[in-house]
Amino acid sequence: MKPLLRRGRYRVVLAAAASSLALAGAALVVPTLAQAASTLGAAAAQSGRYFGTAIAANRLNDSTYSTIAAREFNMITAENEMKPDATQPQRGQFNFNSGDQIYNWATQRGLKVRGHTLAWHAQQPGWMQSLSGSTLRQAMIDHINGVMAHYKGKLAAWDVVNEAFNEDGSRRNSNLQGTGNDWIEVAFRTARAADPSTKLCYNDYNIENWSYGKTQGVYRMIQDFKSRGVPIDCVGLQTHFTGGSSLPSNFQTTLSSFAALGVDVALTEVDVTNASTSQYQGLTQACLNVPRCIGITVWGVRDSDSWRSNENPLLFDGGGNKKAAYTSVLNALNAAGPGPTTSPTTSPTATPTTSPTTPPPAGGANRIVGSQSGRCIDVPNSSQTNGTRVQLYDCHGNTNQQWTYTASRQLTVYGGSRCLDAAGSGNSAAIQIYACNGQTNQQWNVNSNGTVTGVQSGRCLDVWGTGNGQQVQLYDCNGQANQQFRLVPIS
Ligand code: G3I
Repeated sequence: MKPLLRRGRYRVVLAAAASSLALAGAALVVPTLAQAASTLGAAAAQSGRYFGTAIAANRLNDSTYSTIAAREFNMITAENEMKPDATQPQRGQFNFNSGDQIYNWATQRGLKVRGHTLAWHAQQPGWMQSLSGSTLRQAMIDHINGVMAHYKGKLAAWDVVNEAFNEDGSRRNSNLQGTGNDWIEVAFRTARAADPSTKLCYNDYNIENWSYGKTQGVYRMIQDFKSRGVPIDCVGLQTHFTGGSSLPSNFQTTLSSFAALGVDVALTEVDVTNASTSQYQGLTQACLNVPRCIGITVWGVRDSDSWRSNENPLLFDGGGNKKAAYTSVLNALNAAGPGPTTSPTTSPTATPTTSPTTPPPAGGANRIVGSQSGRCIDVPNSSQTNGTRVQLYDCHGNTNQQWTYTASRQLTVYGGSRCLDAAGSGNSAAIQIYACNGQTNQQWNVNSNGTVTGVQSGRCLDVWGTGNGQQVQLYDCNGQANQQFRLVPIS
């Protein structure tokens, strides 16, 4: 796979703002040239976020569709192809043809993939619809295990459970609910065991309005899961502002309230009636304002691709032209600074929970090897450009994989001309190379438990998957294998 290149980010920043950031000890990256990103994915990446779309496998041979999708987006969700009816049409017989078609198309272009969805009352295969009780419970577990085994280590996240609540906040009366109220937590525990490397999300619609019953019902479940240690990493707010729904004024409150429970949030299926520019701008800004809102996915490329095409709800018209809403989203993404992760008011206070080891002797070159993947931290295409995001790649020991741990806890590359640098201190902050400057976001503790933690953030180096091109980020230390790295001397 071609190593993923990331656009540099250059912004106009007022001197006063820059100095206040510096005083607050926030991120160092305050470039001074104006150069707005020209695609949604690149614009979102400036703040460490993604911008995605749903993709239908049977449209990929439409070149207008696939050209727009590959150009604009950097996260892909299979619209229907990874759902239970598609992946296990007969009991015990899995079929990943269409899902893999989308996965391969995306990853060959350096795009990440979200899995959608494992346990849902809809789009169950016929054989599953007719099951109940303990037989259905076991079938759900087998389904999660079968599908997650196939995609193990490959996906950024899975929507483990989809749409399990009624509008009033009670549980939806589905066949899955009939297997016992604990079915959702069983699904999440099964999923964590099946693939510890992927983020596990609960996904639903009509949970955007903070004062709505359904929102509160889902919130209470996430709160309960977090308090009891049920594994859950994220909440997907589908954000279908179609079919009579619209952007609520308290949307940001909803996002920040979920995030405060200790989960990431993402907008997972966005569409808006007649693509209202104000609503698209507003939902984008709400995400940008919440540090743990990690990305936005629209539910299709062109209006003609939408499940609600009569409402023209997407960012491209049927001819593939950018609509006004596209510009409102792009401008909002470009107007955001390096991201809320750098805001003094939202910087985390996390502190390292492990002791640093004695630093290896200064001057020696090391590979940094991910223990889960066996792959090395690599600078794509041997770039020396400030802001180039590092990735996992097959270890080869060339200079773009040679890291020196200095006495001042920097991890330098290219003989010391560039440093491993955190572009922020919050969850999902990008890890990149940057000219060495001695600041704390370029200082790392190499810990005895195998983690590498940022001195500024206290957060761990983390990867979402194991394949070539997987980008490295900061994330809350969680003891999982995707946060384990070894410094291996290059002799
Ligand atoms: O592919 C068959 C085609 O062969 C057949 O002729 C035709 C006849 O109806 O159906 C086609 O399948 C349709 C499929 O989309 C592919 O177009 C299904 O009928 C249709 O039900 C299915 O709709 C999908 C819907 O989920 C099903 O629940 C939509 O594409 C998809 O956008 C939608 O996505 C959901 C999310 O998964 C969850 N959140 C809500 C969202 C919107 O409903």
